[in-house]
Amino acid sequence: MSEHFNLTVRSSSHEYGVDVAADGLEVLLASQPDALLIVDQRFVAEPAFAGRRTLSVVADEEHKTLAEVGRLLVELREAGAGRSDRLIAVGGGVVQDVATLTAQLYMRGLPWSYAPTTLLAMVDSCIGGKSSINAGSFKNLVGSFYPPTSVAVDPRFLKTLPEVAIAGGLAEATKIAYCRGPQEFERYLKLEEGFEADPSQLIYHSLDTKRWFIEIDEFDTGPRLFLNFGHTFGHALEVATDFRISHGIGIALGMFAAEQFGSKTGYGASDARLSGHAIALARVDPECSNAGSRLDIRAFEAAFLADKKHGPDGLHLILPDAAGSVAEVVVPRTDAMVAAASEAVDSALAMVVR
Ligand code: GLY
Repeated sequence: MSEHFNLTVRSSSHEYGVDVAADGLEVLLASQPDALLIVDQRFVAEPAFAGRRTLSVVADEEHKTLAEVGRLLVELREAGAGRSDRLIAVGGGVVQDVATLTAQLYMRGLPWSYAPTTLLAMVDSCIGGKSSINAGSFKNLVGSFYPPTSVAVDPRFLKTLPEVAIAGGLAEATKIAYCRGPQEFERYLKLEEGFEADPSQLIYHSLDTKRWFIEIDEFDTGPRLFLNFGHTFGHALEVATDFRISHGIGIALGMFAAEQFGSKTGYGASDARLSGHAIALARVDPECSNAGSRLDIRAFEAAFLADKKHGPDGLHLILPDAAGSVAEVVVPRTDAMVAAASEAVDSALAMVVR
């Protein structure tokens, strides 16, 4: 019999349940027979959605836009959605982002449920309520908080994913566990060894750990900021490789680069187990082998400096600390620090091909 886990997340507006179960999608669909669906285009033809009012989304960065949200709002109206209707989103992070904002804006807000289809969304983004939408050339410039009313994690979707997407999801799970502390990271490493045979336990523990952060800091002003670990370096790498490096692999490389940066500059501590695991995950992606030659270092530096988390007092970075977790440090905005960041990213890419 397959395992079934559940947890409840408390947000300021409501509590919502998260079920991790191999029949999760069917149970969710059956519980809301009249809900309108917003589905990743790749899954739209699945028999489970037959006969339902379904809108489809092309799940890539180019469609994580306000224009896409606008299209969905109009299509909802054309499909007859009213104020008493509910939405169900099925897809990975891009579908989640556009569905979150669409649900929040349509007639000033409809309740929505979510079934994540990528590991990254299953272990991390499916809870927390944040939407992040690109505008012009600016990644994640627009966003809001609008949590779902329920989440159904159906691990059967893992079979639809390439190896690199699994590695990317594990990178986000690594990040969450490491940010919580050494014990949680230890548990994650054990669960990761048995992940193929039993993905549900790792997914559940990752979400339960993330829940700790989002319940004490729903709006991202304190401890939840730790979950940006790997992101300042990782986002900049994604941009500087023209998104050939995926988000999850960018986070793996970003955690390694943050560790290198911290130990070289003295602002952070080294942790060979963390960096070894992050590089092992990045090595799964063949794109990483070519990324060094394709990396536009000026674009990397510009994106690194443009991170919206930095302040007038300096560059705000989340780096490994001596206690085996992470701390937020403020680093001066100098050429030397930017050069150290570029070197850290170079050494991450060099480690992947070694
Ligand atoms: N929806 C992503 C998050 O809130 O963390």
